[in-house]
Amino acid sequence: MRRIVFLLMLATSGAALALPWSKDMVDQPSVKPQETLVREAPDSVPKSGKEAMPVPSDVAEVVRSRLQAGQQLNNPASMTAESIERGKEIYEIHCLVCHGDTGKGDGAVGKKFVPPPMDLSTDYVQLQADGQIYYTITHGGVAMPFYRDAIEEIDRWHLVNYVKSELKAQ
Ligand code: HEC
Repeated sequence: MRRIVFLLMLATSGAALALPWSKDMVDQPSVKPQETLVREAPDSVPKSGKEAMPVPSDVAEVVRSRLQAGQQLNNPASMTAESIERGKEIYEIHCLVCHGDTGKGDGAVGKKFVPPPMDLSTDYVQLQADGQIYYTITHGGVAMPFYRDAIEEIDRWHLVNYVKSELKAQ
């Protein structure tokens, strides 16, 4: 009898621990949908096809990494009509909603976005090195999403060509 009571106590305390319903399976280190800034363990090794690009830890590092990319990366896509045309396609799919059709930051989503999307026609953007804009597209910004998964590497360069030719302030 005493044993049964003991077992009962064990069983009920277990049930009490599980209430409210345990979310253990939800709260784990795995990446959740729509989650940005995926940090990798420093010793993890990319398996294949992955761009080895470290995730900056703060805004200062974002700025530093952008400038560094501007100095180090060369645009492999020459500024041809085809390249600009391809860039326009990509821009309309991914960027127009926020940055707007002339790059002013007044796209349908852009108008409601906080902070407002950068005006891409300004000197601030237009005078950036290709690699710097490429870096922003690849990694996103402070509030801007990243596109390293959604846009092929070469298309990101076509996009840079489009931004720097067609969106320049007239
Ligand atoms: C969800 C809205 C959104 C989308 C989509 C978006 N951006 Fe942005 N973008 C922003 C915001 C907000 C900023 C300014 C704040 C920041 O850096 O995050 C910005 C900033 C920028 C900058 C300036 C970064 C700097 O040097 O300070 C560039 C260049 C840029 N975006 C290009 C693009 C391109 C190209 C695309 C398409 C692949 C794109 N953005 C898609 C919201 C967006």
